[in-house]
Amino acid sequence: METVLSINKLTKNFGKLCAVNQLDLEVKRGQVFGMLGPNGSGKTTTLGMLMGVTNPTSGSFTWFGEPATHHTRKKIGAVLEHPIFYPYLSGQKNLELNAMVKGANSANIEKVLDIVELSDRKEDKYRTYSLGMKQRLAIASALVSDPIILILDEPTNGLDPMGIAEIREIVKRIAADGKTIILASHLLDEVQKVCTHFAVLRKGKLMHSGPVDDVGKGEETVEVMAYHDDLGVLLQEFVGSGSIKKDNGIFQVMMKDGFHSQDLNKFLFEKGIITSHLMTKKKSLEKKFLEILFEAH
Ligand SMILES: Nc1ncnc2c1ncn2[C@@H]1O[C@H](COP(=O)(O)OP(=O)(O)OP(=O)(O)O)[C@@H](O)[C@H]1O
Ligand SMILES: [Mg+2]
Repeated sequence: METVLSINKLTKNFGKLCAVNQLDLEVKRGQVFGMLGPNGSGKTTTLGMLMGVTNPTSGSFTWFGEPATHHTRKKIGAVLEHPIFYPYLSGQKNLELNAMVKGANSANIEKVLDIVELSDRKEDKYRTYSLGMKQRLAIASALVSDPIILILDEPTNGLDPMGIAEIREIVKRIAADGKTIILASHLLDEVQKVCTHFAVLRKGKLMHSGPVDDVGKGEETVEVMAYHDDLGVLLQEFVGSGSIKKDNGIFQVMMKDGFHSQDLNKFLFEKGIITSHLMTKKKSLEKKFLEILFEAH
């Protein structure tokens, strides 16, 4: 997979405060990369440096293997802070102006309005748009130049559940269209729902990075209950069992890597035991995230 972004020991100090601390990251083409971290962990500062609006104190990064230039930045669309739109112009007109400023082809406008589901409201004035619509127009504006990469900083901030769901669908649609997306969020759930890969930042430091799918791998616990005296003994015989605990008559079996609840169920069934309760518990991203954040470093 082609590396689109490579960050090398990127650092930003604001006076004594180290907002981004020796950050190393790689983003590959086609990923939806989540930068996850609590408020003040350095996400916006990092994106600001990547977009050339904040000067790094030290360290570097490359886009497509090259240092950032006007040319490489043309391949990147970003929704950072609140973009400027003219309140008395329509969504369509605002995008036309935007395209003109960027030297982008206005032929894209129809397509991007479609992607963000604003086609039927494109003639309405910007000032009449809801917050969610404004946010969607901002995404459309970042897409007008048909960038390879889209950068979004907290795209669902301030939106209601409906608006949040809409933005998430749109992000997925844009990813399905083949764009690489870098998305900063303090919402775990958001990262889990839309991202393929993620990094966790804490006080400017990278705490973890990897595929979202890997989280919780090999950390499956199965809760089992059966009206059978030998259950405990048999559970220990099962090759996939790790540690076993008993809580209120319910066994908690930690599965070894590569074993799942169905394997355990089959084993018990073949031994003539029918379970009265069998439940798979995966370590949630939330638990993992909290562990990552509070790990001693
Ligand atoms: N221009 C600035 N001057 C001084 N300090 C700054 C400046 N910009 C950011 N900071 C500080 O740098 C740290 C990181 O801020 P940043 O905005 O990057 O965090 P964030 O992860 O985006 O947080 P949030 O989730 O709240 O958006 C914070 O402690 C912040 O106060
Ligand atoms: Mg921020």
